[in-house]
Amino acid sequence: MKHAWWQEALFYQIYPRSFADGNGDGIGDFEGIVKRLDYLADLGVGAIWLSPCYPSPFLDCGYDIADYTDIAPEYGGLPAFRVFLDAAHRRGIRVLMDLVLNHTSDQHPWFQEAMDPRSPKRDWYVWREGWQGGPPNNWLSTFGGPAWSRVNGTGAYYYYHAFLREQPDLNWRNPAVREAMWDVVRFWLRLGVDGFRLDAVCTIFEDPAYPESEGTAEYEALYARILQRQSPEDVAEAAARIQAIFRHQFDQPGLHALMRELRAVVDAFPDRVLIGEHEDLAYHGNGSDELHMVFNFPLMRAQPFGPRDVLENQRTRLPAIPTGAWPCNTLGNHDVCRLVSVWGGAGRARLAVAALLTLPGTPTVYNGDELGVANLVIRDVDAIRDRFVFQAMPELHGLTADARSGELLERMGSLSRDRARTPMPWSRAANGGFCPPGVRPWLPLHPDFAAGVNVADETADAGSLLNFWKQLIALRARCRALLVGDFQPLAGETGDVLAYRRATAESQAVVALNFAGEARAVPAAVRTVVRGMGVETAPVYGALDETGGLPAGGVVIWTGGV
Ligand code: NOJ
Ligand code: CA
Repeated sequence: MKHAWWQEALFYQIYPRSFADGNGDGIGDFEGIVKRLDYLADLGVGAIWLSPCYPSPFLDCGYDIADYTDIAPEYGGLPAFRVFLDAAHRRGIRVLMDLVLNHTSDQHPWFQEAMDPRSPKRDWYVWREGWQGGPPNNWLSTFGGPAWSRVNGTGAYYYYHAFLREQPDLNWRNPAVREAMWDVVRFWLRLGVDGFRLDAVCTIFEDPAYPESEGTAEYEALYARILQRQSPEDVAEAAARIQAIFRHQFDQPGLHALMRELRAVVDAFPDRVLIGEHEDLAYHGNGSDELHMVFNFPLMRAQPFGPRDVLENQRTRLPAIPTGAWPCNTLGNHDVCRLVSVWGGAGRARLAVAALLTLPGTPTVYNGDELGVANLVIRDVDAIRDRFVFQAMPELHGLTADARSGELLERMGSLSRDRARTPMPWSRAANGGFCPPGVRPWLPLHPDFAAGVNVADETADAGSLLNFWKQLIALRARCRALLVGDFQPLAGETGDVLAYRRATAESQAVVALNFAGEARAVPAAVRTVVRGMGVETAPVYGALDETGGLPAGGVVIWTGGV
């Protein structure tokens, strides 16, 4: 069966501000990205997803868009983007834009107009009259604090914002909004982009009855539990309770019809793809009328997972994916903790990477995770760029520098998503080679760049995390079974070894991952399948130990015919 490019390509998320600075102002840009395309091609990247790169005040690092059909001047504007798109395509690398449907920046001309109650754009946003001297209801912003604000803090009417108060929600019940946004979609598709990652799909509609939420007082504590990651169960429970608090604001009726509308717009252009920032497989629709892919966030959240978590995840998701749609796995992104920080080091993170690259579906890599860049807790208020901490922690405001305690700053730094957004370390040169010496990068680099966590050093070190990624990406690319084969568990219901077989009509692969801190026997089912694969049964990746067992933390892969 023929598969589409997006079913076989490795996706790579570029955080434009942090990837590579081409013009030496400390801010990543397209000139910089173009210079690093060979690195991406060499890594085996087939598609780039760009986090938003539109003109923006950058209060939510570009997810607050002031103009949907232009590129931020500091990134080089549209001319630099065209050069980049062409250079990527020449290397066979596709490009996806981030499409933020739910909200604009308050600086967007649409909202600027809509602030005037008589403006024809008024109804492009969600306005409600206040109640008893306060907001229309008790809904929260997901970034903390009320979801309602007034223009200049006064007036009878409030506008709704699921995120920052500087990110007013568009009124998607207004057909004019839909038409305007579909025009944006066509603009980029005509320019040649290959698809979109859809931001915050679940927040697009709100319950039109605006009922009060329950449990809002708990929100902050629940969010903190997600960050503390005490156990996967605890994270899952906190996430479910957060979902309940926001049940009138998330996943409202109408979304599937809207996704079908968008899909029809996109399908007018051949060979494009939509990936939703959502985990619900219902967004695949019938398999060909909504989103091609949604992220497997349950697996991402289950980290540091064990064999059973992975099997349960695959068992619940794979059969529910309709023909035409496809799984999409990921271990991290710009909103969550860094891969190696979640796994407690690059060694154990390899088990997760091996699973990502050998489980069914399209793998998505977040820039820097291939190097093992760790979380950076920024304790300096002035260096924080992720403004949401200031909405989530009102206690930071109005305090003098000395009144900000160590504990407060620690909490700020851990909460701020800046922790996983630091610039890419390209070498051990000053500023990690991200920007010239003497220039202040927009966010500090993780200091580990000087200790070898950088592209140059890891390229030269055969045993580095980067080379581990590269070898498995290359193996995946040349093995049809790993790319598109069926999935059959061989072990992992109990014990420390996760093992599975991937198979097409012509090829098969067997993967065995030992999550234990000591050697483990090769499961019997693995031995049987590998023996059946033919005379040449030596692993293509990894090796068994002298006793024929799986080494501690070992990754062993066999491939062959059927
Ligand atoms: C999800 C994005 O990934 C996140 O970074 C952003 O803050 C929100 N959506 C709002 O756009
Ligand atoms: Ca720059």
